[in-house]
Amino acid sequence: MKDTLARLSQTYGPSGREEEIRSQLCKELTALEKNLHLKTDALGNLIATRPGGEKRLLLAAHMDEIALLVTHIDDSGFLRFTPVGGHDPRILLGARVVFADGTVGTIGREKLKDKEELKLDKLFIDIGAASKAEAEESCPIGSMAVFAPHFSVQGHRLMGKALDNRASCTVLLEVIRNLPPVDYQIDFVFTVQEEVGLRGARTAAYQLQPDLALVVDVTRTGDTPEAPVMAVKLGKGPAIKVKDRSFISHPRVKDLLEETARLHGIPYQLEILERGGTDAGSIHLTGEGIPTGVISLPTRYIHSPAEIIDYRDLQNSVDLLCSFLQHRDLFSSL
Ligand code: CO
Ligand code: ZN
Repeated sequence: MKDTLARLSQTYGPSGREEEIRSQLCKELTALEKNLHLKTDALGNLIATRPGGEKRLLLAAHMDEIALLVTHIDDSGFLRFTPVGGHDPRILLGARVVFADGTVGTIGREKLKDKEELKLDKLFIDIGAASKAEAEESCPIGSMAVFAPHFSVQGHRLMGKALDNRASCTVLLEVIRNLPPVDYQIDFVFTVQEEVGLRGARTAAYQLQPDLALVVDVTRTGDTPEAPVMAVKLGKGPAIKVKDRSFISHPRVKDLLEETARLHGIPYQLEILERGGTDAGSIHLTGEGIPTGVISLPTRYIHSPAEIIDYRDLQNSVDLLCSFLQHRDLFSSL
């Protein structure tokens, strides 16, 4: 799984420009030789279906990553940008970014007045261009940069960019690799444009009309120095979501997940995220409403160039999902 995550994490795939990450995921899926039916919808969601009985389960993880979109190029070749997804200017300063064509840039800032707060509009991307024309050639207005790829393994801990949400994509692939036989259809969906408002998930859920949905995404932890209070720690197991800003878990789905974890001795935590959301926010409101649950991977420094997760949380998430899929009264109890 580590190699898969290394490949996915380092692939370019900003929201709305998911072509590269989608084709990488297609490759990974094809290599699994599971005879899934693959489809890409109009927005770019990648849907891998394993047919079964009448009931349908949707298992989703977003494949897009946060980015910077070029809005203006000045005469000296410095690029101004607007954020695609949530960015903190204090984290961007000094970060290396990379464009689709491989052009690398670093983020600099204007001089600040005394005690002036650092805002995104004080920042610019420097790709080392000597003029506006030179910058325009490789990074025209509308092009997008993501954090520069890197990946390291240190003991149980993995560090890289875009682990939000390539870690969850990796979990889905591993679930597919170990897919148990079940008597219902499973649609695995790698969604687009989550970071800009849970958009791909909305059309995916609408067309698939599942009877039950599960989302895998990352969540924050409360285990770093003076972190905001939160009862989720790295390495203590997948977090079963109770609530976030856009979603309250379906009580029965949440209970089924907890039951499954206890029954199989899989460590887990309960997650209440006071800010932010996941694809579940749009999925559960689709059609007449869809019973939905979320498994969250504890992650430090989300939306930074170097996010950290614990490998054991990934493995336990795979175990939890595979066991959940085999639960006897998955649909009858909803
Ligand atoms: Co995110
Ligand atoms: Zn995410």
